[in-house]
Amino acid sequence: MDKIAITGGNELNGNIHISGAKNSALKLQAAALLTSEPMVITNMPELADTRFMVQLLEQLGMTVYWPKGSGRMQTHIPEIRSTIAPYDLVRKMRATFNVLGPLLAREGHATVSLPGGCAIGARPVDLHLKAFEAMGADIVIEGGYVKAAALRGLKGAHVVFPFVSVGATEHAMLAAVLADGETVLENAAREPEIVDIANCLIAMGARIEGAGTSTITIQGVTSLKGINYKVIPDRIEAGTFACCVAATGGEVVLTDVVPSTLGALLNALRQAGVGVETGEDYIKIKRDKNVPIKAVDIDTQPHPGFPTDLQAQFMGLMTIADGTSIFRENIFENRFMHAPELRRLGADITVRGNEAVVRGVKQLKGAQVMATDLRASVSLVIAGLVAEGETLIGRVYHLDRGFENLEEKLSNCGAKIARISGAE
Ligand code: UD1
Repeated sequence: MDKIAITGGNELNGNIHISGAKNSALKLQAAALLTSEPMVITNMPELADTRFMVQLLEQLGMTVYWPKGSGRMQTHIPEIRSTIAPYDLVRKMRATFNVLGPLLAREGHATVSLPGGCAIGARPVDLHLKAFEAMGADIVIEGGYVKAAALRGLKGAHVVFPFVSVGATEHAMLAAVLADGETVLENAAREPEIVDIANCLIAMGARIEGAGTSTITIQGVTSLKGINYKVIPDRIEAGTFACCVAATGGEVVLTDVVPSTLGALLNALRQAGVGVETGEDYIKIKRDKNVPIKAVDIDTQPHPGFPTDLQAQFMGLMTIADGTSIFRENIFENRFMHAPELRRLGADITVRGNEAVVRGVKQLKGAQVMATDLRASVSLVIAGLVAEGETLIGRVYHLDRGFENLEEKLSNCGAKIARISGAE
């Protein structure tokens, strides 16, 4: 299994190109199931997760042409060959569950294994299923599979989500675009990825209003066409590199980003004393490493609040702050697994329930640590970049799920980071 070795202490300076957003790309791949025409998705990040989704789509009958290094994925599924998404392909990555809605909308039935995914909490799919039931689907859960049928087609419905769910909002939208009549999604999530998916569906011929607000209205259409669509930049990747530079010091320009999607993080960085400058499609992060980082408290919230997907990275930064910061994780119940690993590097963190108290230390020291989930693993990279000596991170397959060319992007800016292939 690969490991990542980092020798800390170097400043980061230069430019980093931000890749397409994983969390949008995965749902756009599922959206490609909704049309029998060829589609082209560009700015497609080459990640373990997006490759994994391809395997499932091929199993359902899609032809996928995605030359390595091109970022350009061509898809075509004139007919759905199978409506079954098996356990082996769904358990490894939760987003694969999102084929259920498109299959149900196009074929009237689907059998999809219940998902797996990050070990950050129970992560049920009850809200997804309630939305499909409201649209007239019969749902049975049997042997770990969701069997859904709407043999006379899905019907528009009024769905009020009891709390905000990104996945359920996106999934309901993916099904409602081909339902008969009007669907209204209330208390919908407002993440930029939802707007991106809606924009793609609209370009395909869907009628959607209100994406990016808490009420989304969809008028069903009978078919969608194939188009050429570019995935939005990954705000979580951009935010991660911003935290890296804030931690190490230096000056880095993040290019091909949408700064307005990162408001909460950029505010928190400014409060911490980090220099932040934004242009239309770039963010410049600047910090003099001799000036201490100020402690900032973090409360994760649905967008536009502080994203849970950047909580671990910001905690990595706060481990070396001058003072104490309090983190409240309000989205997932088990998302401080990075805390014990950060402690191995000398961080002072106490976790109680959904709250973590981080007392800044003067210096972290390199150690062997283990990645536990996607975002947690990259917080260890941040800590490793500032720690004295060598940090060796195991289980880096978690990183490969969500970060494209991470080592290359960081080493181009001066980091001492390398992958050790097949290390024990
Ligand atoms: C997506 C993102 C993930 C991000 C999260 C919150 C993808 C592939 N993943 O995950 O990176 O951290 O949004 O921004 O896009 N819940 C239920 N029942 C449901 C659905 C969700 O109880 O049917 C709960 C979850 O367990 C969680 C909360 O709702 O506690 C929010 O989850 P949700 O917004 O749905 O996250 P995901 O879509 O899974």
